Amino acid sequence: MANFHLHYRLFPVAAFLLLLSFPLSFSHSQSDNEADQDSPVSRFQRYLRIKTAHPDPDYASAVAFLKSQALEIGLNARILEFVPGKPLLLVTWYGSNPSSPSILLNSHMDSVPAESSKWLHPPFSAVRTSDGRIFARGSQDDKCIAIQYLEAIRNLRSQNFVPARTIHISYVPDEEIGGFDGAAKFVQSKEFKELNVGFMMDEGQASPGDEFRVFYADRSPWGLIIKAKGTPGHGSRMYDNSAMENLMKSIEIMSRFRESQFEIVKAGEAANSEVISVNPVFVNAGIPSPTGFVMNMQPSEAEAGFDIRIPPTADPDAIRRRIVEEWAPARRNMTFQIIEKGPIRDYLGGPLMTMTNDSNPWWSVFKTAISEAGGKLSRPEILATTTDARFMRQMKIPVLGFSPMTNTPILLHDHNEFLRDSVFLRGIKVYESLISALSSFQEDVSSQ
Ligand SMILES: *[C@@H]1O[C@H](CO)[C@@H](O)[C@H](O)[C@H]1NC(C)=O
Ligand SMILES: *[C@@H]1O[C@H](CO)[C@@H](O)[C@H](O)[C@H]1NC(C)=O
Ligand SMILES: [Zn+2]
Repeated sequence: MANFHLHYRLFPVAAFLLLLSFPLSFSHSQSDNEADQDSPVSRFQRYLRIKTAHPDPDYASAVAFLKSQALEIGLNARILEFVPGKPLLLVTWYGSNPSSPSILLNSHMDSVPAESSKWLHPPFSAVRTSDGRIFARGSQDDKCIAIQYLEAIRNLRSQNFVPARTIHISYVPDEEIGGFDGAAKFVQSKEFKELNVGFMMDEGQASPGDEFRVFYADRSPWGLIIKAKGTPGHGSRMYDNSAMENLMKSIEIMSRFRESQFEIVKAGEAANSEVISVNPVFVNAGIPSPTGFVMNMQPSEAEAGFDIRIPPTADPDAIRRRIVEEWAPARRNMTFQIIEKGPIRDYLGGPLMTMTNDSNPWWSVFKTAISEAGGKLSRPEILATTTDARFMRQMKIPVLGFSPMTNTPILLHDHNEFLRDSVFLRGIKVYESLISALSSFQEDVSSQ
């Protein structure tokens, strides 16, 4: 799951801390005894110990490890490289009916940095404590699903299950820095087109309760910078249309809009991720002096930056009009710049969301497979941040975001990220149910 802002701030610190953590990262906990050496949990731990955190993710080792696992299970594996140094591993289990649209399971190999000094256990040690918690950066986001996909397929193959539809797993780079050299390039490639993907699953989020969470859309991120110009003047003079006054008017109007959205959340009528969020992230104005700012001058320019997140249910053109007419109007001598960080509509102009009702036949297959695995689902949600799923939804491929972690605190990007071994193992069973159901699903041609 990506959080652009945080990364840039943490990079230099984290790089330094990573260097410091090297000598520590080989210590293992006592509960990892010999008997564990070749088990689903030990394979998960081996993957967690590969340092794929930014700013210097070791993709080569991750690809080599995952490829060796896939080959050992008897799957096909090939490496694609759309940008040098940023490999993508594509694993395939051919179905008996290869002309049917395939199933794609996606997982990103990279993770955000970790500040070792703030962790109970070194973030790349994958220590398992006596109560079963496996501590590692990436344990929730999203190396768990990477291994669970493979382990579920390993089990299905040992039960002689034969899929009808072909199943692919994509291990992609760079999701945490926007996915532009990873999933975005992948979906545009001829290799992707040849996969003929009918349905895809991507990462979700942990659930503190005992219901699984499922995500049918991301919010699209925009960076908005508004700039005001105005007559400069002495600090003592009162006059109309200074740059600061023009900017402050906009900030007031935007604050009222922000409040109107937040009120809906506070009233319990929508989740945070279902409204348009508008948060100020910088204000830049004033004339610098050696001790701070010149205090008796009103500047001729002022600007402010906002992080805006747009749910698929909102109309981006209406927001654009609001910016032009109210937030940065030319009549107030204002200009603006929108930095779109990814797609906001699918290629036919529709909203970037996957239906979670009877209009999407995959939805009922998914739901049934979860309940057959003994799981309960909470109400489908929009993710507050972004994932690679947006690039596939842009191609109008139905994608559900799902990481089978119940009774687990949400620790992605946080210190002390961990996953309990029992939760990890139950997830494998859930994917066995999902993969067998999805790969056997036959669309009812007569109803189309
Ligand atoms: C916009 O700029 C023009 C030219 O400098 C000025 O005459 C006008 O008063 C300004 N208007 C506002 C609202 O700032
Ligand atoms: C499914 O949901 C969409 C969006 O809410 C709605 O437009 C559509 O009519 C629904 N279809 C069915 C079959 O319920
Ligand atoms: Zn993630």
